[in-house]
Order: sequence, then C-alpha cells, then structure tokens
Amino acid sequence: MNAQEIRKKYFEYFQEKGHKVIPRASLVPQDDPTTLFTGSGMQPLVPYLLGEKHPAGKRLVNSQTCFRAEDMDEVGDNRHTTFFEMLGNWSLGDYYKEEQLPWFWEFLTKELKLPKDRLWATCFEGDKKLGIPRDDESAAIWKKLGVLEDKIVFYGAEHNWWSREGEPSRMRDGEPGGPDSEVFYEFTGVEHDNKYSEKCHPNCDCGRFGEIGNSVFMAYKKKSKGFEPLPKPNVDFGGGLERLAAAVNNNPDMFKISLIWPIIEGLEKLSGKKYAEHQQSMRVIADHMRAAIFLAVDGVMPSNKTQGYVLRRLLRRAIRYALDIGIEHDLCEKVAKIVVDIYKPDFPEVEKAEKEVIEAFIREEKLFRQTLRHGLREFEAYFKPAKEYDTKTATQEEKIKKMGHYKPAPSTLTGELLFKLYDQDGFPVDLSKEESRKRGIKIADDADKVFNQQMQEQRKRSQTASAGMFKGGLADHSEAVVKLHTTTHLMYRALKDVLGDHVVQRGSNITAERTRFDFSHPQKVTPEQLKKVEDIVNQKIKEDLPVSWKEEKTPEAFKKGASGAFGDKYGDRVKVYTIGDPARPFSREICGGPHVEHTGIIGEGGKRFKIVKEEASSAGVRRIKATLQ
Ligand code: ALA
Repeated sequence: MNAQEIRKKYFEYFQEKGHKVIPRASLVPQDDPTTLFTGSGMQPLVPYLLGEKHPAGKRLVNSQTCFRAEDMDEVGDNRHTTFFEMLGNWSLGDYYKEEQLPWFWEFLTKELKLPKDRLWATCFEGDKKLGIPRDDESAAIWKKLGVLEDKIVFYGAEHNWWSREGEPSRMRDGEPGGPDSEVFYEFTGVEHDNKYSEKCHPNCDCGRFGEIGNSVFMAYKKKSKGFEPLPKPNVDFGGGLERLAAAVNNNPDMFKISLIWPIIEGLEKLSGKKYAEHQQSMRVIADHMRAAIFLAVDGVMPSNKTQGYVLRRLLRRAIRYALDIGIEHDLCEKVAKIVVDIYKPDFPEVEKAEKEVIEAFIREEKLFRQTLRHGLREFEAYFKPAKEYDTKTATQEEKIKKMGHYKPAPSTLTGELLFKLYDQDGFPVDLSKEESRKRGIKIADDADKVFNQQMQEQRKRSQTASAGMFKGGLADHSEAVVKLHTTTHLMYRALKDVLGDHVVQRGSNITAERTRFDFSHPQKVTPEQLKKVEDIVNQKIKEDLPVSWKEEKTPEAFKKGASGAFGDKYGDRVKVYTIGDPARPFSREICGGPHVEHTGIIGEGGKRFKIVKEEASSAGVRRIKATLQ
C-alpha cells in the first residue's frame, strides 16, 4: 500500500466512524499568534478545541500539510523532513480514549496490516506537582488490545505531553494541552547504536523506532497557576503520513516512499548519480522542493522577509545541494514539475498554481546563480595574490604610493570569512572550502567552530527579531485585540469600497496596540483614499452596527459576497461574521471570531480609527497599520 492509498484509507476508516473530512488549512496560518507556519494538524482547530462549535461537527478528520522550519538543518538523515502531511482525527468533546486507541490500533493492524509484534505504545507517567495522574487507562487499553506489557512504556512530560509549546512549564495561559499516547513502529533489521543510549527504547534516536501516531488527550487549559480541566476533553490525533508509509514499507528510509521516491529518481536521472552514494544531497533537495512547492501554492513568494525568506532559503539550499551532485541549471524547473505531478491528483490547488509557482522558482534560481557567481568573485578578490598586483598592474610610483595601504593577500580561510561569504554574499560554505582547496588556501583549524558560533549568534538575533515580528493573526483575545479585530473587518470592507473589489486580504496581525493588514493592491494608496477609508470606518463605528455570526454552507457564503483571506481553505460549512443589518450588511467575512457585539463598543471613550502607516509589503501587496486613538 503506498502513501496515497494510506491517506485514502485513513479518511475512509474515520468517515465510517462518523467523521467529516475537513480541508487542510494553509501552511501560513491566518489567525494564529504563535507561529509563522502551520506545524501540526490541530493548529487551525485551537478555537474549537477550546470549546467553540465547529461547523462540520464534533468528529473531524483530515490530512494537514505541515512545515517545520526549525528542522531545516536536520534534513539529510533517513527520517527528518521540514514538510510532511499529518493525518489527523479529532473528537471535539465527543469520544475519548476508549474509542480512539482501539480505532487507531485497528487502522494500523487491520487496514495497514502492520504486524502487531512490531508496535510499541507509550503513555504519560503522570505529574504529582501538576496533579495530573499517570495514564494507566491508556496502558490498560493497549494491554487489552494485545500489546505486550514490555512494549508499553511510560515517559514524563518531555515525551508524553502535548501542546503547541511543548511541556506544561512552557505553555502560555489559555493554551490547551494534555497527556498523550504514542505508537512506535520497530523496524526490522536496524541494530541499536549505543551512541544514543545504553538500552534502546521507543524514544531512542538510533533509528530502530519510528513514531507513527500520537493520540493527545487534550483535557486541560493552562492557567496562570496550574491547569483547569476543559469543559469536555478532546482527542487530538496526529500521525505523520510519510512515517506511516515508511512503516508499511518496513524501511526506515522515509525517502523511499511513494510521495518522495519519484523526486529522488528524477534527481538520479538529472545528475547521472546514484542515491546510494549521494543520500544527503538528494534528501535535502527532495524535502526542500516539496516544502517550497506547498508554501508557494499557499501564496508565499521568495523574498527577504518572514515566510518569503524561509522559502528563499529552501530554494537556495536545494540549488546549492544540487551543485554537489553536478546539477548546475534548471533544477527548479525539472524538480518542481515532478513534485507537482506527485501531488496534483490529490491537491487540485497544486495544479492550479503550477504555472505561476514554477515560473517564480525559475526566476529565483536565476537570481541565486547570479549570487553564486558574485560570491565566487568576492572569494577570488579576497585571496588575490599580492604578487599579481605588485608586478603586473602597478608602476613603481603607484606601488610606493599605495605601500602604506597595502596588505599581503590572506593565505587562510578563517571561520569569520566563511561566515561573511555565506551570510553577506550567499556563498555556500562547502563551496568556499572547495575553492580554498582548489587554490591551495589553508582552511583554519577552528573555521567550523567559529562559523558555527557566528551562525548561532545570528540565529539568536533572528529569533529575537521573529518573536517580536511574526505574530500573525490575533495576539490574544483581550478586549483591545477583539475591538481591533472588528475594526479590521470594517477597514477591509472600506478598502474594497474605496479601492475596488480586487482588494483581498493577504494577512493580518492584531495586537492590543494596532492592527496590521496586508492586502492586494497594485499601487500606493493615496492620502485621500486613506482618509476616505478612515471616515467610513469611523462612520460605521458611530452607527453602532450589530455584529452577528451564522454558520453557512461555504458556496452560499461566497455567493452572498462573504470575503475570505487569500490562501485560506474552507470546509463545507463556515462561520460568517456580519456587521450591520443582516438583510443589508455592511461587511460579511468568513472568520472564526471573536468580535465585539456591536460596533459602538469600539468607539467607547471617544476612540477613533486612525491609519498610521501605509507601505509596500511585497510585490502587489500593501500593508496598513492602524490604531484606535
Ligand atoms: N497535535 C499532536 C501532534 O502534533 C497530535 O503530535
């Protein structure tokens, strides 16, 4: 059974158990303050896990495309990827452990026909301080299902607790989480490596085990002191499709599965080299191109900012690794096509975006190859031999004049230079080293150490920057943020009224201080237009319009003119927020909320809406920052 069939079987199995298939969310979250990318299936469902009603009901299933940028440097072994599909099923306050674990077990052993004796289960060992008991219930269920006692292993919160932030101590207030129970597949023919631990166990990193599913019993909400039980406990299940497929293959090399192997075969053909001898390069290229395609399909374009920068890094890394296997041109064009062909039968949006995405990637490749040439020139200039200058190009007079400034050409490639070439000139480390070797330039003994130190410092700097910068969606549900959220709906409508219907939301980010709104519009918005937008919004605040919401069938919502955000995917039914008389609404938007009940609340205390900045965000996208003051 290949990966595509596993995905299909999973949907069928859980549909039979009363689940509705919901579409994947965009890789770029719209209303999530925690992260730049969608990194798990539950992320778009947080409001529902906290108790809001989901339009599709209490039992949901899907395959969520996920991207974890933090794993980029890990890619290269047989199991790390930045991009993956997470099969997910959810009980929103409906069924619980007694159903979830036997169902998943049945899916693994009957549908996927995985041998029972290769499956291990892990459970939460409890935390007395938090008052959360050991999960003996799950262990008893696993035992009843036939998992041998020595294959049921208890771990603490570092392995068997799940929340978006990880362990309980790292969770923010209001965040849902809970103990979880994971299933591991034990590959045959993989020996334990003592380097990783004295005795092998499911969470050992030696590669004998692969985690294939995680049932989170999401029963708690973090409070400033401890935890509060959620009104009804949920199940949040996630299982990596690629890992499941690797288990079905009984081959720990995830790159051998049907969603990836054709890319590797394509690389073998393009390079004339064998995967067995070039695993690392081929794995990096295959992973990065998959991730890049889905990011671009979801509206990200290469740039120097936020998600666009991550996409640029992915493509550049892929191009650089391709050089290692001798592919010096047309990587994007050829490989992107293979990726698109793999996914388009199951993801129509991939086919729809194909042309635009591949063209953008080709442009990016051209640009990067120019950068590489520039880097090479910088490298050469740095190491230009002194003799050449003295004897060939300078007169005696010039030589004497310049003597004071003259420094002999360096003869060693230092870590600092390696970092400068990499960071400022985009010149890959391996290439710098290779060029040094070719020219007989010594590589300093501590070059890697110094380079890594500088990289780490830079990473810290960008993390600090991103913590401040990358809060997409609503920062929280405080009164100030909720007021600005409704104001943003008013502004979106006003922008359409003033500029035209081509205005489509491309992102939003709301904190207690201001709203930031990105939208498509080809040129600068004039001060007069901005003033008009302000006036409309202030007028609508003054009119104290009612704000209401209703669940509607998605096509109907669109037919009746509801706006959505670019790149968002919707299920059969959506929640539509209306501002004004529902018979003649001022604004209708597909949105999860929350909002004020009537617009007059926004203007309380004499507050008025004010646009404080209008600027370009990226090509064809404008950004407005606005406040209530
Ligand atoms: N949310 C859980 C995970 O990502 C299922 O592992």
